[in-house]
Amino acid sequence: MHFCQHSTNFHFPLYSCSMAHEKIIILDFGGQYAHLIASRIRRLNVLAEIYEPDKVSVEFLKSQNIKGIILSGGPQSVFEENSPTTDSAIFDLGIPVLGICYGHQFLAYALGGKVKRGVEGEYGRAEFTHDGKCPIFENVPEKSIFWMNHQDELEALPTGFIKCGSTSQCELAAYWHPKKNIFSVQFHLEVTHSQYGQQVFKNFLQICKVSYDWTIEKFFEEEKKKLIAQVGQKNVFLFVSGGVDSSVAFAFLTKIFGEKRVKGLFVDTGLLREGEVEYVEKSLRGIGADLTVLREGEYFLQKLKGVCDPEKKREIIGHAFLDVQKKFFTANHLHSDWLLAQGTIYPDTIETGGTKHASKIKTHHNRAPEVQKLIDAGKIVEPLKELYKDEVRSLGEFLGLPSELVWRHPFPGPGLGVRILCSDVGSDEPLHKNVSAFTLQQKNPPFTILPIKSVGVQGDFRTYKHPAILKFQKSSNSKDPEFKLEYFEKMATKLINHYKDINRCIFLLDQNFKGNVKTIQLNKKCVQKGRVQTLQRADDIVTRTLRDMNLYDAVWQFPTVLLPIAFNNVGEESIILRPIDSIDAMSASVGKLPWEFFGKVAAQILEDPKISAVFLDVTSKPPGTIEWE
Ligand code: XMP
Repeated sequence: MHFCQHSTNFHFPLYSCSMAHEKIIILDFGGQYAHLIASRIRRLNVLAEIYEPDKVSVEFLKSQNIKGIILSGGPQSVFEENSPTTDSAIFDLGIPVLGICYGHQFLAYALGGKVKRGVEGEYGRAEFTHDGKCPIFENVPEKSIFWMNHQDELEALPTGFIKCGSTSQCELAAYWHPKKNIFSVQFHLEVTHSQYGQQVFKNFLQICKVSYDWTIEKFFEEEKKKLIAQVGQKNVFLFVSGGVDSSVAFAFLTKIFGEKRVKGLFVDTGLLREGEVEYVEKSLRGIGADLTVLREGEYFLQKLKGVCDPEKKREIIGHAFLDVQKKFFTANHLHSDWLLAQGTIYPDTIETGGTKHASKIKTHHNRAPEVQKLIDAGKIVEPLKELYKDEVRSLGEFLGLPSELVWRHPFPGPGLGVRILCSDVGSDEPLHKNVSAFTLQQKNPPFTILPIKSVGVQGDFRTYKHPAILKFQKSSNSKDPEFKLEYFEKMATKLINHYKDINRCIFLLDQNFKGNVKTIQLNKKCVQKGRVQTLQRADDIVTRTLRDMNLYDAVWQFPTVLLPIAFNNVGEESIILRPIDSIDAMSASVGKLPWEFFGKVAAQILEDPKISAVFLDVTSKPPGTIEWE
């Protein structure tokens, strides 16, 4: 029996079980990156479909037009009792196979090799060296950078397999079987931070001899048919945020059903950026869409009063959206003949644990339990749920949306709510209570731990750990600023891999206090109007300076984060700058902006006496997430 994912709780394939196309199948071992592989393959104009590994059989594979099999990464260890498996007879079909991360370990383990538990793990950037003999690395330089995200590692290869590359921490990082066309790598080819990942996929597709016959226009046609079938005679109602996703979803639905059947509702949650309401109103009405604006800031803030837990905040914001929706439905008599649409994109669902094996990284507000009930009842339309950010932008351009809108930096649905860190405990001591003996016993660690936690992602799991302030200062006469920033980023990866209690590294750009950090105060604070205004001001300084210095397009996103932490009894809060370089948010590195930019921004932010210090977050993803909560 094979499994073709049409059910509501398995969110793929983008192009469902097609017999017409030659295709590559991906066995989903559950990693947060599994579906990204499909996206990468499709970008090379080849149809890719995803299957559950324990549901594919030799008979099924023979009955389809399958030209290659990719084994994805996954959060489990092959040693775990219920770790995912597949029938190893499929490796004897003569179809080329490519293993990635968990797939790399599973493949070796299933065919008689040895896997061992890693001690430290290897997360983020790694330099890979290959021997030049394996065709999977054709046109890949002997040394290049790939992204790692694993703890276990291979100890011995199965008979007939040959090692073809390694990194300093991972000896058997790549291997192959020349006669069987089986290839395997420990690193994640699919994340854009792997320099030659796409080249390796290209090489694999060449080896598979597959046809290149898949395009975004076909996605549009396929998805349009599905939407017409789902919506039937009903009308569609959509919350728009002004971000790329909801705007593209709105335009997509308006194009299919016309403005009379598609209503957009823009909710001012009180957690938006400065000037956002006016911008969104102007730009969406400009594309001929039917938009209503509701000002509900007081309602959201009142619901968030006293709430500090990040997951709880997301849930409350999700519920508040639904309350506003119900109120609107009732007031406008929009009941059974209206469906709710959402601009949910693929990473939002996968990181909530949207597939059977995927681990939950965090709950997206579009997947709050109440919303999930509506999804299960078929009452929610999500036209972009199989797309990654870059694909959403391609679709936006295909639909003729203005490029300023399509290329806006992404902004999360819960808005500044995920950028205002809260604390229900206060302290005027450095809070080392929860930090393990391991880190504290290290003599003079090169950082100071902050008494608050933020979210990160390590080895497919979300981690709530402490950010660390690096004890290094930028040399003021630095001649090669970009290199320096890269150096801090590398150092952050090393430290986070080594010290178990931290998942982020930041460093001090400028401060309102004098001298070195002597005391750290954690202030008891939740999301309040005054704090939102403080963050809006800082965020506006960042956006304006990016535009003024012509740097807006040099970064993919730029969260500005508010921490309820002050130093040396000066001010009440601190600001973190989080410039992001990414393509799809699944992996990210620090946006390499000039020091002059950071200097200008920090100086303006510090004109607010409530701000104690301004920091720069130099953590890649993994191990840090983009947002702090
Ligand atoms: P992370 O923090 O997971 O973010 O690395 C990845 C991308 O998703 C955005 N993000 C969200 N968007 N609701 C949203 O609509 C959310 O709860 C949420 N959390 C993160 C984030 O801004 C980044 O672009």
